[in-house]
Amino acid sequence: MALRKILTEGNPTLNKVCRPVTVFDDRIATLIDDMKETVIHANGVGLAAPQVGVLRRVVVVDLGDEIVELVNPRILEQEGEQDGLEGCLSVPDRFGLVKRPERVKLEAQDRHGDWFEYEGEGLIARCFCHELEHLDGHLYTERAYRMLTEEEYEELMRQNEEESE
Ligand code: NI
Repeated sequence: MALRKILTEGNPTLNKVCRPVTVFDDRIATLIDDMKETVIHANGVGLAAPQVGVLRRVVVVDLGDEIVELVNPRILEQEGEQDGLEGCLSVPDRFGLVKRPERVKLEAQDRHGDWFEYEGEGLIARCFCHELEHLDGHLYTERAYRMLTEEEYEELMRQNEEESE
């Protein structure tokens, strides 16, 4: 496994539509393993392949006890609404407020090409929506109804530091 470089906002790769994965070979397995290592190392919740410069429909999401691998994911159903803070490894040092569905059901393939369904609520549902939008070239900043000001961001960082002390 290897760490991959995370591209940041302004890099045109982040605005491109990714192609589906059609060949489930060692290259895809290596990409997924590298993305897992990269998201853990960066303390992120999720990562999409275009964020590491690969225009393929692959996402990893850290569920806490495991990391789910989503190849060619599609949302099947969504329900409810949540309103909260969102950030992105490709948009460092910024947060914004985004409305998302409270519950999302999706289908995806695993690294071998087998289809499965998965349901997520709360933060996981938010993350699924966020990561899937990366695959179509969109960042959450386009969807946020408000970005935090620099002052609000610094206050949030102070609170996080206090909580971790
Ligand atoms: Ni992101």
